[in-house]
Amino acid sequence: MLGLPTIRLATPDDAQAIATLSRDAIEHGLRWRYTPARILAAIRSRTSNVALVHANGGLHGFAIMEYGDTTAHLTLLGVQATQRRRGLGARLLTWLEDAARVAGIERIDVECRSDNPGAIAFYRHQGYRVQGVFPHYYEGRIDAVRLAKDLAQRESN
Ligand SMILES: CC(C)(COP(=O)(O)OP(=O)(O)OC[C@H]1O[C@@H](n2cnc3c(N)ncnc32)[C@H](O)[C@@H]1OP(=O)(O)O)[C@@H](O)C(=O)NCCC(=O)NCCS
Repeated sequence: MLGLPTIRLATPDDAQAIATLSRDAIEHGLRWRYTPARILAAIRSRTSNVALVHANGGLHGFAIMEYGDTTAHLTLLGVQATQRRRGLGARLLTWLEDAARVAGIERIDVECRSDNPGAIAFYRHQGYRVQGVFPHYYEGRIDAVRLAKDLAQRESN
């Protein structure tokens, strides 16, 4: 192997860096909702997983999945701008999808901003299908695109 940085579950010490990346990469132009306190709550929650890639002394990317009985919701996924298009987002998502399968989850839902075509292309590339659009979902201003993936159909990549 080429020494790819390891994906691991976050600890409370990671909350500040994750919240900062969420603010800068995902929530830009919106009120900062995923503050360190909220990320800490997700890290401590029994019904969510916070996964991350940490390398060379810094956070490269993270993702948060919340689990229901048979479906899960990908709450956040972000990769540092300097680390994109290296496969980290796909690795984080696959890691959480594998955990969800083990937990008996059948479908994963995710929303992303309609003004973020790169993220929509990324999710489609990972096997997610567009389900619809929620108008004015973010602060009454920005539409959300809902995507979903059926985990019963195992992807080949
Ligand atoms: C979306 C995001 C997580 C993708 O992470 P990434 O590590 O760059 O993605 P990967 O390198 O794993 O990309 C896998 C594939 O997805 C597709 N893809 C990823 N980013 C894309 C983009 N900006 N435009 C078009 N396709 C894209 C490509 O097919 C890519 O494969 P390729 O690089 O061989 O062409 C990252 O761009 C990001 O953090 N963006 C800002 C935050 C965000 O939008 N989060 C998601 C909504 S919550």
